[in-house]
Formats: sequence, C-alpha cells, structure tokens
Amino acid sequence: MHTKSLLSLLALASVPLASASNGKGSGKSCSHKGLDWYAKKAGLKYFGAATDSPGQRERAGLESAYPKYDEIMWKSGEFGQTTPTNGQKWLFTEPTQGTFNFTEGDIVASLAHQHHKLLRCHALVWHSQLAPWVDSSSANWTKDELRSIIVSHITNVMTHYKGQCYAWDVVNEAFNEDGTYRESVFSTVLGGDEFIQLAFETASKLDPQAKLYYNDYNLESPSAKTEAVRKLVRQLQNKKIKIDGVGLQAHLTAESRPTLDEHVAAIKGFAELGVEVALTELDVRLEMPANATNLAQQKEAYKNAVGACVQVDGCIGVTIWDFYDPFSWVPAVFPGEGAALLWFGDFSRHPAYEGVVEALTNKTQGHNGKGPRGVKRWVA
Ligand code: XIL
Repeated sequence: MHTKSLLSLLALASVPLASASNGKGSGKSCSHKGLDWYAKKAGLKYFGAATDSPGQRERAGLESAYPKYDEIMWKSGEFGQTTPTNGQKWLFTEPTQGTFNFTEGDIVASLAHQHHKLLRCHALVWHSQLAPWVDSSSANWTKDELRSIIVSHITNVMTHYKGQCYAWDVVNEAFNEDGTYRESVFSTVLGGDEFIQLAFETASKLDPQAKLYYNDYNLESPSAKTEAVRKLVRQLQNKKIKIDGVGLQAHLTAESRPTLDEHVAAIKGFAELGVEVALTELDVRLEMPANATNLAQQKEAYKNAVGACVQVDGCIGVTIWDFYDPFSWVPAVFPGEGAALLWFGDFSRHPAYEGVVEALTNKTQGHNGKGPRGVKRWVA
C-alpha cells in the first residue's frame, strides 16, 4: 500500500487541482469557531494539521496560494497543533552518517512556536524516507554498529528538539498487516523486538516532556496488526520501558471506511492498556473525480473517525495530514485517488468539514440507528 519509492513517485507527480463545486462557503475562517475550538470543547487537547516547509510541499507552482494557506494554517484558529510532514525524518535530519541537518524541521517547529501550536514530532525510526546510507545493501552492519547508529540518530534529533515536542513518533510502521515485523534493515539486523525496545529506551532518556508514541497505519479497526501493536505495548510496559501513546495514522478511503464501532473498538483496545491514543495523520482519499456520492462517503468517514476519538477516553487529539488538497501526499502515491483533505484547491471546504464539526459537537450516530450516542465531554 505504501510505496517504497515515495520520493521517486513524488518527482513524477503531476496532479490536477482538486476542485468541486460543493455549495460550501469560501473557507474564510476568522469569523467562525475553528475545528480546534470545537475539539477543545469536546475534551480533546487539539485538532491539528500537519504541514510542510514551503520547499518541501508536494507541488511546486502554487506559491500564489500560500498567503491564504498560511492564514488558515496558522491564524484562523482551525488548528491547535501541527506536525512537520517531512522535515524531521531521517532522510533530512541525518542524510549522511553523523551529519545532522535540522533546517526543514526547524521551519515548521518555529512557525508552530510562533503561532502557539502544539508540535507533534515525527518520526525517529522508520524504514521509509530513511537516509540511503542506513539501508544500503553494501553496509552490512553488525548488530553493534546498527545499535549505535540508532542511538546516535535518536540522541541527536531528540536533543535538538528537546522541550519543543508534545510527542515523538519514536517508531513508525514496524508491522505488516498480519502482525509480523516488517522487513527492514532494523528488523533484519537486530530483530523487531530489539530495535523497537532500543529506540524507546533511548528516547526515554532524552526529553522527559515528550510523550513517546508508536505510530502506524491500518490500526483503525481491530485486526492482526492492532493485536500485534497491543502486544508490543504490553511488552514494553512489562520491561518498564516508557511508551506513552499509540498513533493511529488513519489514512482512510472513502469507499471502504471503518464504521464508528470499529474505530471505537480499535481505540479502546489501545486506551485500555493505559497509553494515550491520537489520530495522527487522518485523511480520507477518494476515487477521483470528487462527486456528491464519494464526498458524502468521505464525510461519514471523517465523522466516524473523529467521533470515535471524542467518545473514547484516552483519545487525546486528531491531526489531519495537511488540510489543503493540493498539498496532500495522496495523488502522488495512490494514482487516481485524491481530494483527501478538508479544503479543496480553491479553498472551499469539503462537506466532510461539517462532518468533523458534527462529530466534535456530539452528533455522531451509532451504527444501530438509535440516534446520537452519549459523548462524555461536550460542554455547551
Ligand atoms: C508522507 C508525506 O506526506 C509525503 O510528503 C512524503 O513524500 C512521504 O511521506 N505515513 C507517515 C508519513 O508516517 O510520514 C507519510 O508522509 C505518510 C504515510
């Protein structure tokens, strides 16, 4: 599902502006209560959007949209949190061994600081967007060498961002769908258990303020993969290694979206282990072009996901993976799919925006059609 060569695909990407006439307003957002406001009223810590430094945005040539984009991203009150979509990844932070570069990550971190947004930091150990020197086939690391590479990377990156991150995604996407460890240089040389433990153990010594998360996709409905992540959490806890949260990326598809009950069950499955849960990269892609049918499905998908987070104690926040369709990663990676976010190319809002507001204001319907479910935290 996740292509191994995201970067080369990106280079080839040429995507039409997603736009549909949806009868919604202009997206002007200063005069209305933003999603973050609703989220906080519903008891969440934040509703956020990931963003990239201008140099790394998915599509060049959209500079004229930046003022409007920046206004919504930073000034509208829609978002209380952000995550750098790329700049803190290994490929950018340690492109050659021992040489660290925080330029891109710092752009987003300092904008977040300037605009009082909570910062989620992403991602320390991941098989993808890894600097090629780490998994080049000629490297042949010994266990000791790879251990010290992981420790050095985490130590340098976390030390640089110390005090700035609400949370760190310490390990990203370590499991296959069947719950086995994904093949990567880390699992091949050290084994899944060992590299994950090492990563969390190292991270736990570096920034006491940062919550340490395991983050992955397809964790939104109970499955072999969610069971494997639950097992991992228990394993770390039994070894007294700090893990504070599980991030559910929530890269969903409109046409085959999880039900509200599936989301609730998956989130509860983690929360009951005593870790917090966040939806960390929510987007809902659809088969292009967007039309009334798939936009309605998308609205339900967003509403189910956000509604479940609101309903389950321990789910603390929702981040969408950028908010503006032209900057979404989806069209480059899933050909033929797109319009996955809440704002179209012309800055009008998707119907799903209202779905999110409904979910945040206690209007999420149960699957049994018996009407709104009790949402514990909404305060009128
Ligand atoms: C994506 C970015 O959005 C793209 O810009 C980049 O080219 C590839 O990565 N899971 C993750 C994110 O954890 O870091 C990925 O972000 C999307 C999938």
